[in-house]
Amino acid sequence: MSSNPGPHVAVVVVAAGSGTRLGAEVPKAFVELDGATLLERSLHAVRGMRSPVEPILVVPADRVAEAAELAHRVFGRPADVIAGGATRQQSVAAGLTVLADEVEVVLVHDAARALAPSALFDAVVDAVVEIGHGVIPGLPVSDTIKRVHADGSVHETVDRSTLAAVQTPQGFPRDHLLAAYAAATTDETDDAGLVAAAGYRVTVLAGETDAFKITTPSDLRRAHDLVAPSGAPRIGLGTDTHAFDPSAELWLAGLHWPDEAGLSGHSDGDAASHAIVDALLGAAGLGDIGGVFGTGEPRFAGAHGEVFLAETRRLVEEAGFRIGNVSVQLIGQRPKFAPRRVEAERLLSGILGAPVSLAATTTDGLGFTGRGEGIAVLATALLFPR
Ligand code: CTP
Ligand code: MG
Repeated sequence: MSSNPGPHVAVVVVAAGSGTRLGAEVPKAFVELDGATLLERSLHAVRGMRSPVEPILVVPADRVAEAAELAHRVFGRPADVIAGGATRQQSVAAGLTVLADEVEVVLVHDAARALAPSALFDAVVDAVVEIGHGVIPGLPVSDTIKRVHADGSVHETVDRSTLAAVQTPQGFPRDHLLAAYAAATTDETDDAGLVAAAGYRVTVLAGETDAFKITTPSDLRRAHDLVAPSGAPRIGLGTDTHAFDPSAELWLAGLHWPDEAGLSGHSDGDAASHAIVDALLGAAGLGDIGGVFGTGEPRFAGAHGEVFLAETRRLVEEAGFRIGNVSVQLIGQRPKFAPRRVEAERLLSGILGAPVSLAATTTDGLGFTGRGEGIAVLATALLFPR
């Protein structure tokens, strides 16, 4: 089987604008959207392309070092990072000065289109290779568009079937883009404008609604609703395993079990409570039991499950969630769980302020639980934002 190495592609990500219309305290590309800056999200889209590309970042002069570090982190190797110019066009031109000789196809992308999917970048590369000239993503215009005089009076309706709202990444054969930039006499708001002005053909392919440009605060809210829909529930999974220790007392699912072999562990070894804690912390994005409670902390040595559960409930609520429900599955030969299932459910539901359901199963004698060496527990938790 022969493998086609594909064309050599560079992607210039322009992020040197100030973001006047967004009005944030930092340049727009450095504004955070749920834990990642717009630039970082754009770089991840480039990183997610089918084949590796040559990334070129264009950023404000005082952000070059910071962006170089970010690019290194995202791509796992150094990338070219250039200081931008006064206009978008000048920023792209600055990026093109470091284009490697072997690059055949160049994509130019606005960092402000932070949610453009990797598949759109791939589709643009494919189309440039296939048709041999510039390709830009565009969407049909759904509003009725009017040409309007400066005084606000309507001049005419524009036939919207002939219009496309165009996006980035825009892709071009290297020589078309370089020739267009070398010949530029006007300042255009996109690259296709220059390339067309230089006499090269450009074709529109189907764009993506998610590739919209984040320009105003309401665009940022729209982006936020896409990446972290408010009101969406969150699910978490936790597991825990402990070996039996016949010299210890058994504590399981918050209950004391007299005459049963205990479980070893830094605390009381209550694997059910620990699995529930991990499920809750995971759903809330708060890490895990080791990180939150610290196995070395004397405060928790020998502590019972309810200490962890009550504190976890407090942390989860403090983080802005309410517990929907918790479902737990115990896996082991002993103790015989069914007779005390309801008692345990009542206790744990009371501590967490939400329904906790428990089930127990054996493994047909298979594995460490089947051999009676220990107990394993799985828990899932559902949280709702408050
Ligand atoms: N851009 C750039 N250099 C400039 C101006 C813009 O690299 N001198 C980049 C922006 O960072 C953005 C893209 O071009 O990723 C599209 O520009 P726009 O959305 O207009 O961003 P800003 O110019 O930053 O915003 P504003 O016009 O509101 O100031
Ligand atoms: Mg601008």
